[in-house]
Amino acid sequence: ALKRYRGASDLEQTWEESQIERARFSYGSKNKKQASDKDYPLVFENQIAFIKASVMDGDEFDDKKSHDETTTAAAAKATAALDDKLQEERKTLPIYQYRDAFLQAVKDHQVLIIVGETGSGKTTQIPQYLHEAGYTKRGKIGCTQPRRVAAMSVAARVAKEMGVRLGHEVGYAIRFEDCTSSNTVLKYMTDGLLLKEFGDQPDLAEYTVLVLDEAHERSLPTDMLFALVKDLARSRPDLKVLISSATLDAEKFSDFFDSAPVFKIPGRRFPVEINHTLAPEADYLDAAIVTALQIHTKEPPGDILMFLTGQEEIETAEQILKQRTRGFGTKIAELIICPIYAGLPTELQAKIFEPTPQGARKVVLATNIAETSVTIDGIKYVIDPGFCKKKSYNPKTRMDSLQVAPISKASANQRAGRSGRTGPGKCFRLYTASNYQDLEDNNVPEIQRTNLSNVVLILKSMGIDDLINFEFMDQPPPEALLQALELLYALSALNKNGLLTKVGKKMVGFPLDPMLSKMVVASDKYKCSEEIITIAAMLSVGNAIFYCPKDKRVHAQNAKISFHVGDVGDHIALLRVYNSWKENNFSRQWCYENYIQVRSMKTARDIRDQLEGLLEKAGIELTSNPNDVDAIKKCITSGFFPNIARLDKYGSYRTLKHPHTVHLHPGSGLAEVLPRWVVYHELVLTAKEYMRQVTEVKPAWLVEIAPHYYQMKDVDDPALKKMPRGVGRIGKELVCF
Ligand code: CDP
Ligand code: MG
Repeated sequence: ALKRYRGASDLEQTWEESQIERARFSYGSKNKKQASDKDYPLVFENQIAFIKASVMDGDEFDDKKSHDETTTAAAAKATAALDDKLQEERKTLPIYQYRDAFLQAVKDHQVLIIVGETGSGKTTQIPQYLHEAGYTKRGKIGCTQPRRVAAMSVAARVAKEMGVRLGHEVGYAIRFEDCTSSNTVLKYMTDGLLLKEFGDQPDLAEYTVLVLDEAHERSLPTDMLFALVKDLARSRPDLKVLISSATLDAEKFSDFFDSAPVFKIPGRRFPVEINHTLAPEADYLDAAIVTALQIHTKEPPGDILMFLTGQEEIETAEQILKQRTRGFGTKIAELIICPIYAGLPTELQAKIFEPTPQGARKVVLATNIAETSVTIDGIKYVIDPGFCKKKSYNPKTRMDSLQVAPISKASANQRAGRSGRTGPGKCFRLYTASNYQDLEDNNVPEIQRTNLSNVVLILKSMGIDDLINFEFMDQPPPEALLQALELLYALSALNKNGLLTKVGKKMVGFPLDPMLSKMVVASDKYKCSEEIITIAAMLSVGNAIFYCPKDKRVHAQNAKISFHVGDVGDHIALLRVYNSWKENNFSRQWCYENYIQVRSMKTARDIRDQLEGLLEKAGIELTSNPNDVDAIKKCITSGFFPNIARLDKYGSYRTLKHPHTVHLHPGSGLAEVLPRWVVYHELVLTAKEYMRQVTEVKPAWLVEIAPHYYQMKDVDDPALKKMPRGVGRIGKELVCF
């Protein structure tokens, strides 16, 4: 039977549509008219000066012939039918020439490292070649991706190339969504999901080949998989293991896998001219926008890819670009602005693949999702401010944070390379040549900069108890490991001997972070599992429930406030949003009227449905207790008691256990209330360290719920008497007294 959750079908359609659009685009861009750039007036004052630093040579771009060949091949393709065209397109990918050699190498070796430039066909072709060569006769081929969006889009693309329906022979599985069926032989999935499957079935008997893709990203689950798969390969000589990476530095992978051979796919990259600024830019966002306009008015046709750090920045850039191009009139070509970031609704994501109309230019505003996981055709110019958001874990404060930080040299080169995929390109770095020299060579693997509690719980559930001697490619910091163990112990998931408890076993059954799964498990005791799984589902959707269009800010704010009446806190507000939507028959219209994102709500519903099924498996009864708000809050506290903060006299907060100053997020419904004691879902570090998704708690609960973690003196310290008794306003200023 086709396993699929509600909502997956319209998702699939959007992706398929986007793939068709993309296919059309590759015709459209070929006959774009060369626009003259002479009559463009200067439309901005603060020009950015660049110096040409170097030309990054294409590996294989040695003769003009190869360029001509591609152009002719492309022109020939444009007249063929869609399916033929796709088959032809497959043959133009760099990997195609090495198909036989590759299959021979797989035959000869159990473990193989594959290295090839982004866009050379690794992700889409390797599983197909193996399928064509018969590796799916006895089982599946699994291919992992660190990013959900990549797993979904690649599966859609491969299904199209093979002429099958997505979810049948070719499918994908990501957390909360399984779009595969019993006849699926090519399964694209997130690395986290394969890790989970390892827990359920340690020999992964249904797979004949595992491809660990995007290995260079060194994401935490991929790193865990390296170790587990290496071990598995010893006991399953029939299993083929492929490690695929976009960086040329594959020695490390090879060393780790007992000197496994490296299969290099020579790239077909065109030269890229690298430009650096003469002096550092104070405001990189503004510099990026000015540069985009400079390119638009002065450079020959070709689309622009601008790397920004996140949704907010992308939206700001979009708005400013729209403003500044408004006055252009007819003399200057149209500039089409396309944002892409992970949380962007799927139907809008398709826009980046749409053909650029003749005479117009497209500027794609992307997070580093466009660095290696998503390939956008037609890019000729790259603008690289040199920053991205990086997750980091501070063992001192025990906090995970997402922070804007300089990229690595490896990332800078990847970014530049995006402009030279289909012809010679130009990269504009908004930093100096010496700034570039100061960048770190490579990204620090995630395992060394994140909270490890989730993977420790998974490893424990696999019976791997000696984590200190576990064979990681790069060791995690011992203190981070220790703290993960401590947290799991505090949550009662592990006992004193570090072994999984009954609670821990139940927690493993939920595809959630340990604190969330503990909260769900605790709902049994507080008889409010209905409400808690709704809250867990809404929190899992992330930060994309409320929608605030810039031109309707007041309306959107008022709609949001209506869910917070009574200062119930953000968790209960999320519960109210979901329940009202449900009462309104999951209506789309209701979402529009209340400035709620439909897509996020649908995702929340899918997640909720799945959690409901898992509750049953864990033997937790479905019970509802909607009027006992305290029971719900206590249940939240059961999972999140390590995240408690109390108000200080400056109107900011101090975390209770490992004291540290934090602030209420301005988006919180309690931002103006400032309760004395709060529990928070997460911390985000932007201008300040903010607590996001916050609910008021009573200090007495802490001793009641987590007596092993908090003692009376923690919540009743004489020093705490200095806490403000209340909060008021003088004019616009919030004051404590
Ligand atoms: O994995 P690698 O970066 O080596 O390449 P790939 O993802 O297999 O991409 C090969 C080709 O497929 C590229 O030309 C992409 O433009 C195309 N592709 C696509 O059209 N749609 C996708 N969702 C993924 C790839
Ligand atoms: Mg790839």
